[in-house]
Amino acid sequence: MGSETEKEYYRKVLDSLGRRLFVVSPDLKLLAGNRPATKKGGPEVVGKKCYEYFYGEDAPCQSCPVPEVLKSRRPVVRRVRDADGGTEQTQCLQATPLFDGQDIEAVTVLDIDLVHLHSLETELTRSNAFLRNLIMSSVDGIIASDMKGKILIFNEAASKISGYTIDEALTELNIRNIYPGDGAREVMRNLRSNDHGGKGKLKFYPIDCSRKDGSMAPIRLSAAVIYEGDKEIATAGFFYDRSEKKELEQKLQKTQIQLLQAEKMASLGKLAAGVAHQLNNPLGGITLYAQLMLEEYALEEGAKEDLTRIIDDAERCRDTVRELLEFARQTRQEILMNDLNHAISRTLFLLENQALFHNIEIIKSLDPDLPKVPSDVQQLNHVFMNIILNAAEAMEGTGQLRVETLPSDNGCGILIRISDTGPGIPEDALPHVFEPFFTTKEQGKGTGLGLSLAYGIIENHGGRIWAESKIGEGTTFTIELPMGQPSEQE
Ligand SMILES: Nc1ncnc2c1ncn2[C@@H]1O[C@H](COP(=O)(O)OP(=O)(O)OP(=O)(O)O)[C@@H](O)[C@H]1O
Ligand SMILES: [Mg+2]
Repeated sequence: MGSETEKEYYRKVLDSLGRRLFVVSPDLKLLAGNRPATKKGGPEVVGKKCYEYFYGEDAPCQSCPVPEVLKSRRPVVRRVRDADGGTEQTQCLQATPLFDGQDIEAVTVLDIDLVHLHSLETELTRSNAFLRNLIMSSVDGIIASDMKGKILIFNEAASKISGYTIDEALTELNIRNIYPGDGAREVMRNLRSNDHGGKGKLKFYPIDCSRKDGSMAPIRLSAAVIYEGDKEIATAGFFYDRSEKKELEQKLQKTQIQLLQAEKMASLGKLAAGVAHQLNNPLGGITLYAQLMLEEYALEEGAKEDLTRIIDDAERCRDTVRELLEFARQTRQEILMNDLNHAISRTLFLLENQALFHNIEIIKSLDPDLPKVPSDVQQLNHVFMNIILNAAEAMEGTGQLRVETLPSDNGCGILIRISDTGPGIPEDALPHVFEPFFTTKEQGKGTGLGLSLAYGIIENHGGRIWAESKIGEGTTFTIELPMGQPSEQE
């Protein structure tokens, strides 16, 4: 050892430790002690047996660590009673051998305050429990894994989103099972790049998470690499389920498309109405003058025939114009109390004789007590005609057509049900049949406007129309119309 000053400092350091530090010989005689160790006994500590000096005993303590140190030649920690003579084992002694060559010359003993250690441990446990609770009760899913992908933390939200139990995740799961395909590697690549919120960070990244049942949950992931110095030691991810939001987004998108479609239809309607109005007058002129010529001139038979054809064709044009105006809903709606059984029978009577219906069995089940409903019978005929023609076309002229009228369940209106035994409408097409221009018929055969027109008419009547269908069995269209006071509407 160096100078006296240096020795003095060593002494001061040992004294200022605040814990007992003493040296005993292998036969437990005190050789030296710092101030906390000698406080009670004063300077005459050297030469006394330690058990005598500290505890006033005449035999070594049962839990004395020194014999163990002599035997094992290694440091030993033992719990002992404290130096004030209490009986509780609240202190620990750490005994370390001091060697002189191969022999153990002496043993240094340092006491450790167990009460203090214990309170530190309790505090640590408490703050650990708090952190655990914090992680577990998070609404967001939290997963941490080491660099090999072994899961270290997996909270309840993560379990709920993924379908794996926390136990399963911690024992059997690898992070690569959570992100399908190349997902885990993609996340790491993005984490290591600077492009997603800085190196080692990833913010609100949309990705899929594999659920236990094999399905996918769309999630938004924020993640971070945990470093020790420069070394990557783990990754932590925080994420939430986007399924509901995604569904809403899709619905919104669909509504936007429908709105756009409606707008398109409205402008198309205006255009059609404009053209129809412009055509109406000259068509009236053509019919009128052709008729005048027929009546006022003595014409040859051939010329008469030609004029009659002109009149017929002009009338067909007028019909088309009327259809267009109807389509644009520019005709006046004439609402009266109508017997719809009668209206349906008339439509069926008109159709029945057409070739398409020759091999179709028509079953009528019309409620004789059906109340009259406020309606525009012309427009409703149009609707029935459309639906019945669709049914006959779907059955390709062979099958059963069932037409039924009955009071509606709530007693506030009537139901009209038209069913066929055709091939049915595929599930993916069913939601679209009322959309304008939706048709499965070949070009020139269908415009796809029939049902959209029917939909608009029924809606204008304050009613509802819907379709149910089973592939291979047939299709049923149901119309519900409310009862109420007749009124005239635009
Ligand atoms: N009873 C039915 N059975 C099977 N499919 C049907 C039936 N009714 C309608 N559909 C389907 O709905 C589509 C749309 O019908 P909609 O009446 O609107 O148009 P369309 O009949 O194709 O053409 P349009 O009526 O303008 O001549 C049809 O093309 C068809 O695919
Ligand atoms: Mg049709």
